Amino acid sequence: MDEILINGGTPLNGEVTVSGAKNAALPVIAATLLVGDRFEFHNVPALKDILSIQDLLADMGADVEFHDNTFSIDTANLSHFEAPYEHVRKMRASILVLGPLLARMKRARVSLPGGCAIGARPIDQHLNGLARLGADIVLEHGYVEASAEKLTGAEIYFDLPTVTGTENLMMAAVLAEGQTVLRNVAREPEILALAEILNQMGADIAGAGSSVITINGVKALKPVTAAIIPDRIETGTFMVAAALTGGEIQIHKAAHSHLKELILKLEKTGAEIDCANQTIRVKGNAPVNSVDVKTMPYPGFPTDMQAQFMVLMAVAKGFSVISENVFENRFIHVSELRRLGADITISGSHAMVRGVPELSGAPVMATDLRASACLVLAGMVAKGTTRISRIYHLDRGYDALEKKFSRLGADIKRIPAQT
Ligand code: EPZ
Repeated sequence: MDEILINGGTPLNGEVTVSGAKNAALPVIAATLLVGDRFEFHNVPALKDILSIQDLLADMGADVEFHDNTFSIDTANLSHFEAPYEHVRKMRASILVLGPLLARMKRARVSLPGGCAIGARPIDQHLNGLARLGADIVLEHGYVEASAEKLTGAEIYFDLPTVTGTENLMMAAVLAEGQTVLRNVAREPEILALAEILNQMGADIAGAGSSVITINGVKALKPVTAAIIPDRIETGTFMVAAALTGGEIQIHKAAHSHLKELILKLEKTGAEIDCANQTIRVKGNAPVNSVDVKTMPYPGFPTDMQAQFMVLMAVAKGFSVISENVFENRFIHVSELRRLGADITISGSHAMVRGVPELSGAPVMATDLRASACLVLAGMVAKGTTRISRIYHLDRGYDALEKKFSRLGADIKRIPAQT
């Protein structure tokens, strides 16, 4: 397995361009199952998760090509309506094929995702919503067997905001008979982006981005060519990198409107931030001030930025409390940060972070996608050498992150696995 080797201490300076958003591309690609035709998407990031959904849809019979950040897919000749365990266990977002398969094929067999490092990750909200639309849902042998003669619009209340749950129900409802009203939905930018592309396909969706989405079912949809929105979490990772290393980075093709809460928090830590059009300039200043953070569904502080922000607090002046309110086990990176000299105490969903003068490099192990990014950040500011193992987690959600950081001046390289 590849590793990443970092010698810390260099301020990062220069310019970087953000890739397309993984969490926007995955639902949009799943939505192609709603129409038996050819689609083309641009600005698709070159990530393992994109290759995973490419393999999944190809196994279903779709004709798929992905190169130079362009994803082309023809879903005219689907022969299978199943997301098998070997795909879903690699990428739980495979569950996003459930809604569109049910809507177009009136049946779907999707492996239950199971839990992951950061939590149990149940899909009860997805299944309850689909049942409200008239689907027959049977769970057996670790699979969801879903079927429906037809889907009929309904009013659906989510117990809590769920990103992929909202996306699955939106895709299931677009071809249903009549009106569907989704309440207490997630409001992430990726949901609004999906709704906009579905409407370009001929759907009739209103309210995406707010807590209530109304969908009037239509008879059929058509294929589109569209671009994927920028990745706000990759953007936030570069912003924290500038603040952490005391450098100055210009981040291009960034959507600062998607990061208002993070920008507010980073400014409170003392970073200078300027937003102009699609560029965010971040300049880190010493000392870094300690700031408390509570992760919440959008537009609150993103849980996907919690680990990265914790590294900044680990070397801040003072004491901060980081509360993780979205996932029940998203502090796995803390034990690895402690190996680098961080002073962090966990109590339930709260991490108490006492800033230390400096971190010291050491061998550490990545455990999930955003924890990997946090360890890369920590290695860039730690004194000495940090060696990160299991970076396949990182490659799921970042497109050549070490190359982007190297171009900003970091002493970082990938050590290929010994074959
Ligand atoms: C999406 O996951 C993202 N993934 C995650 O990004 C992100 O962390 C998460 O939203 C929260 O923002 C994709 O978009 C592919 P949820 P998702 O359903 O949809 C509970 C990354 O790093 N819940 O919004 O799976 C759940 O347990 C990944 O890019 C239920 O109880 O997250 C969690 O506590 C990690 N029942 C909370 O809701 C359900 O049926 C939010 O989860 C569904 C969810």
